[in-house]
Amino acid sequence: MSNEAILTVKAASCRFDVSLPALTRLISRAPRRILRAVEAVSFAIPRGTTFSVVGESGCGKSTLARMVVGLQRPTEGSLRFADIRRGDGTFGPPRVQMIFQDPYASLNPRWRVGDIIAEPIRELKLRSSEAETGIRVGDLLEVVGLSRTDATRFPHEFSGGQRQRISIARALATEADFLVCDEPTSALDVSVQAQILNLMVRLQKEFGLTYLFISHNLSVVRHMSDHLAIMYLGRFVETGPAEQVFNRPRHPYTRLLLETIPDVEKPNRERRPMSGEVPSPISPPSGCAFHPRCAIAVERCRSERPLLRNDGEIRLACHLA
Ligand SMILES: Nc1ncnc2c1ncn2[C@@H]1O[C@H](COP(=O)(O)OP(=O)(O)OP(=O)(O)O)[C@@H](O)[C@H]1O
Ligand code: SF4
Ligand SMILES: [Mg+2]
Repeated sequence: MSNEAILTVKAASCRFDVSLPALTRLISRAPRRILRAVEAVSFAIPRGTTFSVVGESGCGKSTLARMVVGLQRPTEGSLRFADIRRGDGTFGPPRVQMIFQDPYASLNPRWRVGDIIAEPIRELKLRSSEAETGIRVGDLLEVVGLSRTDATRFPHEFSGGQRQRISIARALATEADFLVCDEPTSALDVSVQAQILNLMVRLQKEFGLTYLFISHNLSVVRHMSDHLAIMYLGRFVETGPAEQVFNRPRHPYTRLLLETIPDVEKPNRERRPMSGEVPSPISPPSGCAFHPRCAIAVERCRSERPLLRNDGEIRLACHLA
């Protein structure tokens, strides 16, 4: 593992124009409406590590993931991949693949699993013959804990967890270096979730993969993250080494997220329900966007937006924490 950043994101923002059509706007005198999905987000991911982004629904996680894989252009700021040297001696930009929440939607139901996994190998001409491609597909199925004979079956013949294994095998078939995983386990049962997470951790070690891992659940990312960013209404509010954030959460929102997750070690612990609604990213609250839900908010929080500041390895945006 090296400390060289494979991805550097600088002040990336993504805004969507969600205004009414121009004529309607003119007649009703409605103003333009800009939705700030991601605002001035900066981070770097060292090669071979996992950077996790956690926050509630609508905070901009998928938009950030889509910018990283190039499916969405940033409105401002930059995202840059560093050239890397791979195991096979080649040097160039990392191969980036995305793994989605719903593996069924991303697997062609009419194709046999063997063809789904072989497609990128054929497309990128990563093997010189069909025989070699077949061997590679069988190897990949075994790497993700399925069997070589599964190549002849169709996606609907597999469980959700197995389908996610197929998605991972297909991502590996491209000889990916960097995987963007958008809630890859949130559609699965808890026990299956753990199996897939363990598989991902093993594959990371085996192939030196780098992960950008997205989740709304802090407990999911706890054991696999090196770095963690807590996102609220498009902005990072606390970032740092994962263990430090877990052991000493400072931002009131991070604390709220930690208090409301089920604790596997203490299942009977009394949990507070998540308080308050997430405000709209079209008209976010003034000052600190978290102030309407914050238990310790003071007058200043309503008028002045806290900037991210460094405290050791932690970055934090709060006037009081
Ligand atoms: N193409 C788009 N056009 C307009 N608004 C969009 C678009 N894509 C996303 N948004 C809005 O941007 C905000 C962030 O959406 P995003 O999908 O990134 O959130 P998320 O954190 O992934 O949520 P979830 O946990 O529900 O998946 C939301 O308010 C969403 O409605
Ligand atoms: S800045 Fe104020 S409202 Fe925002 S999290 Fe800190 S204390 Fe709460
Ligand atoms: Mg999402």
